Parts: sequence; structure tokens; C-alpha cells
Amino acid sequence: MNDDLVTAAREARKRARAAYSHFKVGAALETADGHVVTGCNIENATYGLTLCAERVATFKAVSEGYDSFRRIAIVADTETPTPPCGPCRQILWEFAGDIEVILANLTEEKGRYRLSDLLPLPFDARFLKKE
Ligand code: THU
Repeated sequence: MNDDLVTAAREARKRARAAYSHFKVGAALETADGHVVTGCNIENATYGLTLCAERVATFKAVSEGYDSFRRIAIVADTETPTPPCGPCRQILWEFAGDIEVILANLTEEKGRYRLSDLLPLPFDARFLKKE
């Protein structure tokens, strides 16, 4: 199935800065009111300061004032779908909640998940409440 959100993630992937890994990723995050905020992975010579596509999209969206989300599409050029890394799952949970995660490659959709299935038993603000 070719969802517009997947198409947006594929377009974002073209802007990836992946000079070191050569592994380009695109993401498209859909807000509750239907806006789409995209991201791509951005690497640099330190390696360690790399930002994944999902976190770029999330931080862009939060910085633009969006605080409610429905879905994210993640695209890489892999036969087996590329899932979000652990830190990205944590950040998505914090800022986007239990959204749908759509994984796709350049030609087809590969799977749909709830974020809560990808990040069971998450640590979040609920644990920081004083007793
Ligand atoms: N990467 C992402 O952007 N998202 C993922 O879901 C997996 C990994 C990036 C980080 C790095 O730039 C490259 O892919 C290789 O790990």
C-alpha cells in the first residue's frame, strides 16, 4: 500500500546526510491535526553526534509547537524493515505517545506496529512523581 506518509518519508530520506554509514533513513511524523513533519538522519565527523531520522522529525515537530501525534513512517532501503533504535523509541514515547509506527522501504510497506509493542514497559514521567 502506498500511504502519503510513507511517500513523505521516502522524500525526506533523499535529504539524509549519511556520509559515514551510507545508510539513509527518512521519517514522516503525522500530527493529530494532519500536518506532516519530516526528518532524515544527519551524521557528522564525530560519529557520536549523529541524529536519527525519527528524532530529527520529533524534535522539529516539538519545536514547531506540535504536541499531539498519530503516526510515524520510517523508510530505509532494506528488504527487512528498519525499526527505530532504542533511543528513538524512548523519545517517540515521551513526545508522541502510543502512535502507529509504519515501516517501509523504497517500494513497499513492510509492517505496522504500535509504539507500545516496540517499547514495552517504558520509563516515563509517571515514575518521577513524588510519593
Ligand atoms: N538510523 C536512523 O536514522 N534511524 C533508524 O531507525 C536506524 C538508524 C541512522 C543512524 C545512522 O545515521 C545510520 O542510520 C546507521 O545507523
